[in-house]
Amino acid sequence: MIVKTKISLKPYNTFGIDVNAADFIEINSIEGLKFIIETFDLVNRHTLVIGGGSNILLTKNYDGLVLKMAILGIEKVSEDAEHVYIKAMAGEAWHQFVLYCVNNNYAGIENLSLIPGCVGAAPMQNIGAYGVEIKDTCFEVEAYNVETNEQKIFSNAECKFGYRESIFKHEAKGKYIITSVTFKLLKQAKVNVSYGAIQDVLRSKNIENPTIKNVSDAVISIRESKLPNPKVLGNAGSFFKNPEIPTEEYLSLKEKFPAIVGYKTSETNTKLAAGWLIEQCGWKGKVVGNTGSHKDQALVLVNYGNATGNEIWKLAMQIQESVFEKFGVTIIPEVNVI
Ligand code: EPU
Repeated sequence: MIVKTKISLKPYNTFGIDVNAADFIEINSIEGLKFIIETFDLVNRHTLVIGGGSNILLTKNYDGLVLKMAILGIEKVSEDAEHVYIKAMAGEAWHQFVLYCVNNNYAGIENLSLIPGCVGAAPMQNIGAYGVEIKDTCFEVEAYNVETNEQKIFSNAECKFGYRESIFKHEAKGKYIITSVTFKLLKQAKVNVSYGAIQDVLRSKNIENPTIKNVSDAVISIRESKLPNPKVLGNAGSFFKNPEIPTEEYLSLKEKFPAIVGYKTSETNTKLAAGWLIEQCGWKGKVVGNTGSHKDQALVLVNYGNATGNEIWKLAMQIQESVFEKFGVTIIPEVNVI
């Protein structure tokens, strides 16, 4: 185990923010993790665990210990007539794992193709796209308690998944380090093409009975057309969550703004497209110093090169304020601000 000191975190966050970590260790095995928990007082020490660094905004040098999760491995742990149970270690790149499943015809996560980040971070915010969330296929999450150094298995229900939410952002925050996720996937695919944009791509290719590979390819092409590649332009995907408001409120907003985009999520609530709200406030494609809101997807804030985390945060707060002024709706960041 190597402890590096004062290293730049620029390669470890997709926003490409250049701040230093006081101490930095890469975790390559469960034994390594157990040794770190035993040796360092992670409970009282300022500690940040990162996977792909695709959902964080670093606003200052990190004065504590950064643990980069890098445990690798994918295995089929069991199967029954309809399902396969695939365990992926936390450091596996999410998209590579999706491709592994697609290539083996294990169905259920193909709509989540090309999402940046690592497997271990996926349950934290219940990653989701194109009508699918990992809560739909996550069987269990294995984690280590940083106080007791014991393993705990969280069942799907124990993860308390919600829209971009889980127990790991609340009660379990800072208490556990996720080491693997096991997925329950289907042998016979039931593709989910409910999302209009996927249907459009399939139609344009005259595909009537799509395979999971077709769906994965369609998602990849949609994402590539709308979302900036973090390797080219620093970003952390959607910066804000889509706000959920009472449908009554939505209907009165619709009277004033007939083009407003909303989807009913329950008997009482409607989710608004934050990208639309932000665009209406004039932010889409606007460049502010080294940062800005992306030209093809207003919900994505980008780093044009040398932005600081504070610069991006300041822009985010200005956007939040103007959306509130115009619509009376508060949009909440989904990115973790450190
Ligand atoms: N829209 C605009 N202007 C914009 C962006 C969007 O008017 O600049 C409107 C469009 O009318 C569109 C609607 O918003 O119909 C929804 O847009 P989109 O399909 O791009 O999805 P989203 O709600 O903006 C969410 C997720 C994405 C995920 C997509 C696809 C959140 C916060 N974001 O975005 O997830 O890829 O749906 O399912 O829920 C992420 O979390 O980082 C992420 C990229």
